[in-house]
Amino acid sequence: MEDIKKDGRYGRLYKQLSELVKKSDNASARMATIIAVLHHKMDYFFWTGFYLIDNGKMTVNMYQGPVACQILEKDKGVCWASYNQQKTLVVEDVHQFPDHIACDSRSNSEIVVPFKNKAGEIIGVLDIDSKDLASFSEVDARWLEKILELVWE
Ligand code: SME
Repeated sequence: MEDIKKDGRYGRLYKQLSELVKKSDNASARMATIIAVLHHKMDYFFWTGFYLIDNGKMTVNMYQGPVACQILEKDKGVCWASYNQQKTLVVEDVHQFPDHIACDSRSNSEIVVPFKNKAGEIIGVLDIDSKDLASFSEVDARWLEKILELVWE
């Protein structure tokens, strides 16, 4: 999808989400709502979900899409790289990414955004996969970072 079209869609979606999350101040309820809306409104999102650190393990949390790996091997793949580097990673071709963990062989590109708790500490990541190559851009990165803040606002 072109960046200009994406930007418009995220703008509308952000508005919708900020209304929806207001109905509860429960973080899990807000996270689940964000995942459901993103997954069903963005047609290139094939897998949409959270991996959170639990006892040092990168563990799958709420998600939509095909069944995923429950635990990601430490320091391997895009989720761990994003968490360790504390920054959003946009990967155009996951098969070129060193140590990429393929939970589903149909995924070809990916974006991973660090997820912070209320205190601003990174506690995991939002991971989104697409079946197409190079689906994600800086537009996704900017909007998804902003959308994650809705969990605590
Ligand atoms: N691709 C991720 C693993 C998680 S699944 O794609 C849902 C990674 O390399 O970290």
